[in-house]
Amino acid sequence: MSVVEIRVPDIGGGTDVEVIEISVAVGDRVEIEDSVIVLETDKATMEIPATDAGVVINMMVAVGDKVSEGDLILTLEAEAGGVAAVSEEPKDAKADIEEPEDNKGLVSTAEEEPLPVSITTVRVPDLGGATQVSVIEVPVSEGDSVSEDDYLIVVETDKASMEIPSPSAGMVSKLLTKVGDELKEGDPIAELSITIASVTPSVSPKPDARSLNTEVVSEKSETAKRASLAQNQAGQLDQSIAERAANELNQTSGKAHAGPAVRKIARELGVDLTQVKGSGPKQRIVKDDVQAFVKSQMQKVQSGASNVVSGSGIPAIKLPDFSQFGAVERQPMSRIHKITAANMSANWLNIPHVTQFDEADITELEAFRKQQKKVAELRNVKLTPLPFILKACAYALAQYPQFNVSLDMDKEELIQKSYIHIGFAVDTPDGLVVPVIRDVDQKGIWQLAEECMALAKKAKDKKLLPSDMQGGCFTISSLGSVGGTAFTPIVNAPEVAILGVSKAAMKPVYDGEGFVPRLMLPLSLSYDHRAVNGADGARFTSLLSELLGDIRNLVL
Ligand code: COA
Repeated sequence: MSVVEIRVPDIGGGTDVEVIEISVAVGDRVEIEDSVIVLETDKATMEIPATDAGVVINMMVAVGDKVSEGDLILTLEAEAGGVAAVSEEPKDAKADIEEPEDNKGLVSTAEEEPLPVSITTVRVPDLGGATQVSVIEVPVSEGDSVSEDDYLIVVETDKASMEIPSPSAGMVSKLLTKVGDELKEGDPIAELSITIASVTPSVSPKPDARSLNTEVVSEKSETAKRASLAQNQAGQLDQSIAERAANELNQTSGKAHAGPAVRKIARELGVDLTQVKGSGPKQRIVKDDVQAFVKSQMQKVQSGASNVVSGSGIPAIKLPDFSQFGAVERQPMSRIHKITAANMSANWLNIPHVTQFDEADITELEAFRKQQKKVAELRNVKLTPLPFILKACAYALAQYPQFNVSLDMDKEELIQKSYIHIGFAVDTPDGLVVPVIRDVDQKGIWQLAEECMALAKKAKDKKLLPSDMQGGCFTISSLGSVGGTAFTPIVNAPEVAILGVSKAAMKPVYDGEGFVPRLMLPLSLSYDHRAVNGADGARFTSLLSELLGDIRNLVL
């Protein structure tokens, strides 16, 4: 018997490479060539094979460690006749380099003739945080002339749509995408014939998120960029589906044949790759296989649930044949509608809701707001009650930080936030979206009014970026301009509270001597009863009512 060390072999010059999987444990028997750990760089996963057979005595690395050539991975008790205590020159790792799916035609600009026309490939620009978008509209055709900023396609993420404009005037010589395609940053949209005279000023990328990337990029750098983009795509999968699927699965995936992007998706979704059948060459697992696997697991869970009439399963709603009652027409739900529906159900089912109702006397606030109308006009801002409500909520969140948390039920931890970002629901023809205003506590009423206006406009013009809708701590849903006396908003998880605002109305209020007419604003605060107790709910709305009742509270 001899002790043998297994070290990190030559990994092509990579240093500080992350250990993403440990394929063996102390006590396991390994054979020569068995994978012992898996490393991952930006572009490749590498299974590190055992150079000797034996039983693992010590593991020196853990998932998440960074290793370089020569680092000790484990020690083995080799069988009699085994090799010397220190292993021979390690063999090369088996690099499993993932080629990005469309690694062809990467050169963006190719001049067909020296003059007068240049063909430029217009590509998907920075998507402001979204990794993948669907093409929902292609308003141009091949042969169409376009002006600078005419939009070439409209894309949609889970929560927003955006128009991608032409970077320059020209003629669409070739369309490289169609409705239904899924695109990511850098993907080609169209080839544009541009007269040379207009190339220099127009084609270079603008710094704006909406600008188009038309620069000539080297194949190598583009490949690396695409590989890293591909790794981010897991965010596109519905997390709740993933979580449910993950519950059924264990976490090891050492022996699967898959590239880094697929492994990353699998890790994030909790999918054991050894259970996934690969449809690629040599049974290589591709992203679609992981998605199909998650879907099938989800269907299993759902069909199990639909058969359950009582207990924790939720019976499915059966639809009658409506045509027996009259004419009907079926329409596909918009993407925003589908996502909102799924989120609403998840939030409603997962969160024990309580709604606390209250009223704020905004007679003075309204008088002040009306006084400011002229100033507002000069500032080109619409001053509604919303910025005041935002400010009051920011103050109340600072006073009652238990409303500014998220719950991590798996770890049984509260995540306390020390920033105050507040979202507000905007009704658009495509559905409900919730842009977020950052650091509301640090902004004045005018700035909040400006940001509300700008974000509501962006929402209605389908121009919100995913980053505009992220990071909220609390949400306001104002139906004040519409009507109603109260409603029970659904908490926008992972936040723990939401304020519903209904239409202010004149009411007779007893002031101790008699009834006086006061403008009363109805407030409906729904909160997650796991995070917030009832007394704090009432304290929160009382404070809001106090703050809105005396405008000086907000100014101070
Ligand atoms: N009581 C009485 N009047 C109110 C009010 C309230 N609570 N809130 C707003 N108003 C008034 C405004 O002052 C304005 O009147 P004015 O021009 O005389 O000043 C008018 O209603 C229209 O306001 P609006 O343009 O809608 O601005 P807003 O700041 O109140 O709301 C949005 C902006 C984006 C929130 C709003 O347009 C919207 O989309 N609301 C719907 C949100 C929703 O669907 N929530 C449900 C989620 S489940």
